[in-house]
Amino acid sequence: MASSLGLAIAYATIVGLASILSSGAAPTTDASRHTFNWDRTKYMYAFGDSYTFVQGTEGLATFSFIGDAFNFSFTPQELLEDEIVPKSSSSDGSSWTEFLTGCFQGKPSDCAPHQLWNFAFAGADVDKALLPLHHNFTVDLVDEVKQWVQFASHVVPHPAAETLVAWWIGINDTGDTLNRNLTETDFKAFWEQEMHSLFGAVQNAYDHDLRGTYLFFNVPPLDRSPDHLGTAVAPKYAQNILDYNAALAAHTAAFARAHPDVIVLSFDAHAWFSRVLDTPAQHGFTNITGFCECTDPGFFWFSAYV
Ligand SMILES: *[C@@H]1O[C@H](CO)[C@@H](O)[C@H](O)[C@H]1NC(C)=O
Ligand SMILES: *[C@@H]1O[C@H](CO)[C@@H](O)[C@H](O)[C@H]1NC(C)=O
Ligand SMILES: *[C@@H]1O[C@H](CO)[C@@H](O)[C@H](O)[C@H]1NC(C)=O
Ligand SMILES: *[C@@H]1O[C@H](CO)[C@@H](O)[C@H](O)[C@H]1NC(C)=O
Ligand SMILES: *[C@@H]1O[C@H](CO)[C@@H](O)[C@H](O)[C@H]1NC(C)=O
Repeated sequence: MASSLGLAIAYATIVGLASILSSGAAPTTDASRHTFNWDRTKYMYAFGDSYTFVQGTEGLATFSFIGDAFNFSFTPQELLEDEIVPKSSSSDGSSWTEFLTGCFQGKPSDCAPHQLWNFAFAGADVDKALLPLHHNFTVDLVDEVKQWVQFASHVVPHPAAETLVAWWIGINDTGDTLNRNLTETDFKAFWEQEMHSLFGAVQNAYDHDLRGTYLFFNVPPLDRSPDHLGTAVAPKYAQNILDYNAALAAHTAAFARAHPDVIVLSFDAHAWFSRVLDTPAQHGFTNITGFCECTDPGFFWFSAYV
């Protein structure tokens, strides 16, 4: 179990979801709406980056469950026969999506009671029109959704009452923009462009009947990751992340208002990571400043940024 962070995320997520369930209401959910029911949730879909992706036998090794930019299409059979490879996340353990669903390996359709259909691609930014792809084979979030629309939406069911869709992106975007010499005002305008792309992709999913519950994650305090902690760029990184998260919160609320048929939940990953990093001993961590690509459970960080 090398995945210190993976475990932290999974723990945070499950605790977060559990408290949402037990309180019966989520922060951004209108009480008059139908409520989220995890027990009834049979299909979990996920879009995002390396924090979220799982390895598939039909995916690009260390990057995806299925396909890549050069191999964008897949057949229904390839999708349905695709198997999750266990413990092949970016932190060497399982992804938080696997901890949450209990779908750790094999064909997602064999998982019960929660199937995991994960279209996240490691290294993804929101939109290649705004930030260059990390690799020429990278699938950005906008294209992850297009891929789902074109090749998966008619193959795997997604009845609204049984569907949870997770969105976790921005981690690479807030890091990739660090060397940009923009004013705070220019940065805020840039994050607005990012939100336009992100919520355009969310709308694309919605327009193709991927509904039910949407769960949005914000960006954790990666200014506290081993390769940035205490460096000269850390304050700018921290600000980037706060600005991105503020834009995300505003647009998530606007999306919820405009789509009353969707249950919109937010998970404050920034607050959770901050809490664990502020009180590591309470969470079983002995080292929060360095990283260790090893099985020592005391390390919060598995690598320089995961
Ligand atoms: C594309 O992906 C499919 C499914 O993973 C695989 O069978 C095929 O060989 C790949 N083609 C290329 C050109 O990589
Ligand atoms: C973003 O993804 C890439 C993988 O392409 C990774 O190497 C990089 O460190 C990530 N950046 C951040 C800030 O997480
Ligand atoms: C993708 O990038 C790799 C490495 O940079 C390069 O060798 C390859 O030719 C590129 N492929 C295409 C189709 O551009
Ligand atoms: C950043 O931009 C400002 C204003 O345009 C300029 O004065 C400054 O020298 C630039 N800094 C760097 C590191 O390029
Ligand atoms: C944390 O781990 C790093 C890297 O191994 C090491 O340099 C540092 O001294 C450790 N800190 C503590 C408090 O053990």
